[in-house]
Amino acid sequence: MTDFTTTKSRFHLPQGVTYLDGNSLGPLPIAATTRMAEVMQEEWGEMLITGWNTAGWMAQPGQLGDRIGRLIGAEAGHVMLGDTLSIKVYQALAAALALRPDRKVILSDTGNFPTDLYMAEGLIDTLGQDHELRCVAPEEVEDAITEEVAVLMITEVDYRTGRRHDMARLTQKAHETGGLVIWDLAHSAGAVPVDVTGGKADFAVGCTYKFLNGGPGAPAFIYVAPRHAEATAPALSGWLGHAAPFAFEQTYRAAPGVARMRVGTPPVLAMASLAAALDVWDGVEMTQVYARAQELSERFIKGIEAACPMLTLASPRDPHARGSQVSFRFEHGYEAMQACIAHGVIGDFRAPDIMRFGITPLYLDEGDIDHAIEVVCKVVTGHLWNDDRYRQRAAVT
Ligand SMILES: Cc1ncc(COP(=O)(O)O)c(C=O)c1O
Repeated sequence: MTDFTTTKSRFHLPQGVTYLDGNSLGPLPIAATTRMAEVMQEEWGEMLITGWNTAGWMAQPGQLGDRIGRLIGAEAGHVMLGDTLSIKVYQALAAALALRPDRKVILSDTGNFPTDLYMAEGLIDTLGQDHELRCVAPEEVEDAITEEVAVLMITEVDYRTGRRHDMARLTQKAHETGGLVIWDLAHSAGAVPVDVTGGKADFAVGCTYKFLNGGPGAPAFIYVAPRHAEATAPALSGWLGHAAPFAFEQTYRAAPGVARMRVGTPPVLAMASLAAALDVWDGVEMTQVYARAQELSERFIKGIEAACPMLTLASPRDPHARGSQVSFRFEHGYEAMQACIAHGVIGDFRAPDIMRFGITPLYLDEGDIDHAIEVVCKVVTGHLWNDDRYRQRAAVT
């Protein structure tokens, strides 16, 4: 049984702050500070370049990949860490398209995160093979899966509304029509129970700085189904995805399996804080995290709707159709979120009018939810948002 009091005690949560933005950047796991200092002083400081072998830095992308693999239902040895999620989307898409050379359509939805669509556009230009990026409304995806589709590239949980696609059903339909599927798990890993093996995903990608709490800019991950592992072309054929990087051969030969998805030098310091963050997940069951997140989400929705009717629920009302976030629409959402932050409740804003709240049971409990409801409703019903200070748009919203 997951002990959420213990998991909460393992995070640094600033005094006076209620943090409902772990769906964007998870908070600092306390052990990450000491782990980072150890890696800097004892490994980088003392071992210098020998750390690659002595401290095992080179093996970490695969080892940490396996620890993430447990949380997304992946087979051991099929998840690799590295780079940013945008890069991993590009690699997965290039690999998937190469496996379906006779088809030209990449199917996605308008709820997808823009970088996924941008990366697809860039890849289409680079390939110059007349691929088409077809984007439909999220509820139309299933019907849009036809025999024209080479790859269904989809984000399981919508970053704005938290709406969750049915991974197994869409994957099955794509397979029945002869296509492949790439799942972006940015808002799923550490948020909802994912089963890439049972759901028969072909590729999956995700980031580690949101629900997994790896730290700002923590590396992304990629999963390649074992049945494709030896047949994929990584597109970005960097030296560390070579079969023998230190043979320094003139031409590229792909490493076995998912290791070929490595590109260049792994971010050792970032991996140190991620490793500490993943320690918190040891013994934590995703089904329990999700059940608890839905309990807290229901409490949050009920409380906001009762005290603050000007906010309209933007997330699905059915808990099973949601990820681990709750979003509300409010015309003055940007200002209101700035005012909430000034009053110690941190969520975020997504244009044009969405106030987004991450519900993360590892460190949030009923007391936090009730306090957040009180502050959000005070800000909205008391018009505290109506202040020039809160209208200044910052670079990051
Ligand atoms: C669904 C989704 N995909 C991709 C990205 C982009 O990730 P990165 O900035 O690591 O490339 C994000 C970022 O929030 C995201 O939410």
